[in-house]
Order: sequence, then structure tokens, then C-alpha cells
Amino acid sequence: MSYRYTPADVAYLTSPDGVAAAADLAASLALTPASLVGDIARAGKRYGQFGAALVDTVALRRRALAKMPAADAERRLFTDDGLQQATPHIVARHRAVRLTGRRVHDVTCSIGADLAAAACTADLVVGSDLDPVRLLMARHNVPGVEVLRADALTPTTRGTTVVADPARRSDGRRTVDPAALEPSLPSLLEIYRGRDLVIKCAPGLHPERLDFDGEAEVVSLDGGVREMCLWSPGLAGPGVRSRATILRSNGFVEQVTDLDPDDCGVGEPGAYVIDPDGAIVRAGLVRHWAKRHGLRQLDPRIAHLTGDAIPPGASGFPFLEMLPMRPKPLRARLRSLDCGPLEILVRGADVDPDHLRKQIKPTGSTPLTVVVTRIGSRVTALICGAREFAGSLS
Ligand SMILES: C[S@@+](CC[C@H](N)C(=O)[O-])C[C@H]1O[C@@H](n2cnc3c(N)ncnc32)[C@H](O)[C@@H]1O
Repeated sequence: MSYRYTPADVAYLTSPDGVAAAADLAASLALTPASLVGDIARAGKRYGQFGAALVDTVALRRRALAKMPAADAERRLFTDDGLQQATPHIVARHRAVRLTGRRVHDVTCSIGADLAAAACTADLVVGSDLDPVRLLMARHNVPGVEVLRADALTPTTRGTTVVADPARRSDGRRTVDPAALEPSLPSLLEIYRGRDLVIKCAPGLHPERLDFDGEAEVVSLDGGVREMCLWSPGLAGPGVRSRATILRSNGFVEQVTDLDPDDCGVGEPGAYVIDPDGAIVRAGLVRHWAKRHGLRQLDPRIAHLTGDAIPPGASGFPFLEMLPMRPKPLRARLRSLDCGPLEILVRGADVDPDHLRKQIKPTGSTPLTVVVTRIGSRVTALICGAREFAGSLS
């Protein structure tokens, strides 16, 4: 059970006494699963009714370090859900750059992660939400920005670019039904039709099933697909319907759109087998990315690619040999190669990697990779070396 903050907690946590108490506990509490009960008791003895809120805040700030710079994580206030839902800093900043110079209304601002990023690029920023405690936190987290209580489904500003990030978690489970989001995605599209509108949604969403006529951008961070962002026509790249954006913590950025050429061709394995970033795959831009980097497909229906070099920012597997996907001969061959640590990738084939690993039982010392994929009508195993990274990936 996560701690439920009250407005009185937020008032204390933002007061000089609360700030000093949080700093004291941040420096003195271990907050490990074993120490937690004792930590809460100690904080209660020292800070009375605010002990639990202080301990929770210190714990959430430590977790927040994974999503934002330390200077923000160590100062801001969060609820457990608010932190889980907060857009990671690098993704929020990327979105905010596309809002540069605009007047922005974040209609689901929560504790203000997107709002803080927009405040750095936009001409004017307003935040609103239904949750009174999150609003108090947003007011503290994004100083100087107007924050008010309003229903996103009732337009409350005019002439602004509306940014919405409907809540995707209900009862702790992710939902991809657009109507089940809070606020409902179809309702947002209907109510703000004709306005400049940005909606962040789950990457599993199918924009083609929505009454939506702009750009769908799939964004990944450090190899994990984080979100799909819908940009209404006034904000979309000219003529762009689909965009993949690959972001990395080391500053690497790559973008591909459906306007890029896609005649990459299909052919035999070359020096490397390459599994494109999930954002490229989810955005349906595998051929476009392959063409840009001189790669080709192994099969026209499957996302596995091949070529003579690994593109900047990507990873790939040095190709050794391929054989029909039959567990016994594959195991024998891998044993003869002294296969040890084994990475297994599967696309386009009904093969369970965990089951295959148990069948192969790698016991040697050479790190290898098996890429199971469909080439034409045959399920094929490509034996490759261990994953290698191109220069600008760290
Ligand atoms: C996923 S969170 C937004 C996170 C935010 N973008 C950030 O990075 O911190 C969704 C927010 O929508 C709010 N919400 C849900 N329904 C709403 C509605 N009808 N009007 C305004 N806010 C709403 C929730 O209270 C929650 O704070």
C-alpha cells in the first residue's frame, strides 16, 4: 500500500521545517526492506504525524533518480502513482522541444514532469489536473507556473496547444483500450478537434483505429519503447504520419519517418544480423531505417535485418552460420562451438526462447547468439557471435 498524501502533508513538506526534516532523513535512513519498519518508527519519533510522509518522500526521491536529474529528484514531491506515471526527463524534454515558443496547456499535469520540461521551451505554460494533492505537488515542482484544478474534458484555455497524458494504469494493470484511459482518448480527440493537440499514449495503441489525422511518434529510451505520442496536423511534420524516435541517455538521437525511402531490398545474411530498435519496429519503419543504413531484410515480412556494419547507436550480432531450426542439430552445433552465455532472439516463429534454452543447455564458455526467424516458409536459426555495439552507443 502506498502512502496517501494529504494537502497538510504537502504544506509541511514544502515548509522550511519539512524541507529540513526530509534532508535529515535522506541523510540518515537506510530505507532497505529490512530497515523500513524501524525507519518509519524513528521518523515518527522525530517528526510526529509527518513521519510516514517524510519517509515516503525520501524513498520516492531515491526512486525518482532513475527518471530525472538528481537536482530535480531530490527536491520534487511525488506520489507513488504520480512518479510511476511521470514521463522520464529525456523523453519529456524531447517532446518539449517540439513545443518551443508555443503557449502550452498541460491538461493532465499530475505532479508536473511534462509540465516542467514544457516550461523550459514554451512561451507560456499552464497545468491542470483533477487530483488536488498532485496539483499542490506540481505547484511546488514547477515553480512560477500557473496550476489549476480542471477537468481535461472541459476546455478551459483558448489559443493554447493542449498536451494530454491520460492515465494508463487502472487497478495496477496497463490498459490499451483508448476509451478506458482517464480521461478517455476518443473524448479528448473529439473535444479538442481543430485545436493543436498532443496526446501521449501507450506504445501498444493503434492510431489507425482512432479518428485521428496527424502524426504518430513512437519513442524509445535506451532501447525500451516508452510511448506513442499523437501530434495533431498543425504540429505534425509536413506529410508525416509515422515517426520513430530513438533516444539514449548518452545524448544519441535518431529519427526516421514514413517519408524516408524504404527500398532496402531483401538478401542473404551479411557480416551482421541486426534487430532494429523497438520504436522502429512499432512505428512500422523497419525498411526505412534499413535503407538509410545500407541494410537489407532477411525476409520481407520480418523485422530482422542484415548488412556489413552496425548503424550508429544500434547493436548487432556477427553472423557465423545458419541452419534449419531443429533443436537437436542446433544443440549439437552450438556444443561444438563451445557455446556458453547464450542470447536468443525470436521473430516470426512460434518458438519459446526459455524452452529452447532448456533444450540447448549451453555449458561452454563462448558467448553466442541464436536468432530464430522465418525466411520464406522456413523457420531458420542464425548462429551469431555475442551482441556488439556500434561506436556511439554506451
Ligand atoms: C499519466 S498522469 C500524467 C503524468 C504527467 N504527464 C507527468 O509527466 O507527470 C495522468 C493524470 O491525469 C489526471 N486525470 C485523469 N482524468 C482527468 C481528467 N478528466 N481531467 C484532468 N486530469 C485528469 C490524473 O489525475 C493524473 O494525474
